[in-house]
Amino acid sequence: MALDGRLCYGGDYNPEQWPAEVWEQDVELMRRARVTLVTVGVFAWSRLEPAPGRYTFDWLDRVLDLLHAGGIRVALATPTASPPPWFSLAHPDALPVTADGVRLHHGSRDTYCAAAPAYRAAARRITARLAERYADHPALALWHVHNEYGTICHCPHAEAGFRRWLRERHGDLDGLNDAWTTSFWSQHHSDWAQVSTPRATQYLPNPSQVLDFRRYWSDELLAAYVEQRDLLRAATPAVPVTTNYVLGDWVPVDHARWAAEVDLVAIDHYPSDAGPSVEEQIALAADLARGWARHGARHHARAADGDLPGTRGSWLLIESAPNPTYTRGGTHTRVPGRMARHSLAYVARGSRGAMFFQWRASRGGAELFHSALVPHAGPDSRIFREAVELGGLLDRLAEVDAGVVEAPVAVAWDAASGWALQQRALPSDRIHHHTEVALVHRALRRAGYACDPVLPGDPLAGYALLVLPALYLADDATAAWVRDHVHGGGHVLVGYLSGVADEHARIRLGGYPGAYRDVLGVRVEEFHPLGDGEEVPLTGGGTGRFWAETVRLAGAEPVDAYAAGVLAGQPAVTRHRYGDGVAWYVSTRPDEDTYRRLLDEAARAAGASPTCPDAPPGVEAVRRRGPEASWLFLLNHTGSAQRVPTAGIDLLTGAVVEDAVTLPAGGVAVVRERAGA
Ligand code: GAL
Repeated sequence: MALDGRLCYGGDYNPEQWPAEVWEQDVELMRRARVTLVTVGVFAWSRLEPAPGRYTFDWLDRVLDLLHAGGIRVALATPTASPPPWFSLAHPDALPVTADGVRLHHGSRDTYCAAAPAYRAAARRITARLAERYADHPALALWHVHNEYGTICHCPHAEAGFRRWLRERHGDLDGLNDAWTTSFWSQHHSDWAQVSTPRATQYLPNPSQVLDFRRYWSDELLAAYVEQRDLLRAATPAVPVTTNYVLGDWVPVDHARWAAEVDLVAIDHYPSDAGPSVEEQIALAADLARGWARHGARHHARAADGDLPGTRGSWLLIESAPNPTYTRGGTHTRVPGRMARHSLAYVARGSRGAMFFQWRASRGGAELFHSALVPHAGPDSRIFREAVELGGLLDRLAEVDAGVVEAPVAVAWDAASGWALQQRALPSDRIHHHTEVALVHRALRRAGYACDPVLPGDPLAGYALLVLPALYLADDATAAWVRDHVHGGGHVLVGYLSGVADEHARIRLGGYPGAYRDVLGVRVEEFHPLGDGEEVPLTGGGTGRFWAETVRLAGAEPVDAYAAGVLAGQPAVTRHRYGDGVAWYVSTRPDEDTYRRLLDEAARAAGASPTCPDAPPGVEAVRRRGPEASWLFLLNHTGSAQRVPTAGIDLLTGAVVEDAVTLPAGGVAVVRERAGA
């Protein structure tokens, strides 16, 4: 593509907030910034259907015509994330109920229950009308269903849906009682009417019930999405359909499994920090998106020639913030130049462009101080000038869209393990799957390795090393996946709290980690969670934090050991030859340097090499490889100039790179590599 041969660049465009004169200025400014794609209509339901069944499309007709005349393509959104006031008044049963039993009122957005029949019907109606009206509009490039599915509900509709889902999953009440261990605390169900969503309760809830509810709710939201998608597909078979994923531990969506239902994985990403970790957060989010996108490959074939979607694993950053990043303590302004570098960091890792929320800063409304490409100050502003510059840079990078990111390491990621480790009755409430994935990702990134997130069961051919960071749940198929991989010659590094529980969050007995004991050649007898600030020295020179274990060797050799405390002299890190492969076990959270060295050692031993071994610290290197060329992205996150050996052509400047490129502080180069260099 991407889009008529260009990368996607633009953002959420909300013309309904502005008088018509502004629309023409907008298109003119978009042309100046070389915008290629805008998302229109995300929250426009009350403007499109001001009263039940009365539709007002004239303004949207005009906007789409103007955009088309300006050469700008449209991701047309269905407005179903924000039902109009008339809908909520007419259907109070479609307002969501919290776990505490409080029914929310209209007044914000996302205030609906996705399981409520009235909501689903209204969403289908407005979607069908949009599809009918704009199916043949030449500006239409992509359907954007809804916005950030995520609202959770505990109303009677949700409860009924949960029971239906549980019947499917567990068959009968015996199956449910067994899976949920209801023999504990007198929770045995003798009638389906007794089964509820995990509402607020007196003390610890049933962890298996909580886990199943998260799974169910992801499926319910997915069903709501699929209904809309199918209507859109029927009207426009060649136009891809997506929805924008929101990221975060609270999100009740299994993004990887949803990927099979979207034609293009699209994420919104708002890093929670403006400091140095922001680049790590960007790299992780981008890699996760790419990992999820690999599960959508079967739909990519549907794309019309030269249009979205494209290569395996490509995805789209569909929303990000041009300037201030919101954090808990307020907002942080992005320093000059960061918008471009950060946008290119997503493209480096497979994004088909960079899109923002939003095009023009709102005058009022709940997000009136949210940053925009056209800020309150207007186009005579640093941000708009940077937006114009970014448009120019992205224009020069269209060819990289053919490249697939090279990654020799696979890191297992699993939404359900993440949800299960959020339960309250664990030995530590500080170990989370997502955090552990982030730590592994950071260590690998610092050591210079790219990695792909994979799901349990995914094919592993082509990956030198597989890492399981706190992959808490393992059904028998997952245990066999790891065992067969290692037996056949694969290398795996397993972190603590992996394979401890089965798919119902019940312990796998006989010693931890029940699913992988044989492969690892260890048997863990006891957990020793460490307190705040507590550290345990390791004989290799590093320290362990948060967590430690009594590890008994059962065939494995020790690689590092606890050097003090009750575990002094006992193994902390082990290695085991199993079949033709190698399995490492890490029973504590090593300090950052130790973790980086350990992963580096395991990756090298498995035959992996860093993307660009000569890149200096602070320079991120990512390679995308296509059938005819490869591109090396070099992002200098440091405050000084950095020299990196490479050869080819820097697409951003057009300069020929003979043997090295010098990146200014904060600078980026995208080198089409000379063959054989
Ligand atoms: C996103 C959302 C946008 C906007 C943005 C603000 O999560 O999709 O509509 O609210 O956050 O950061």
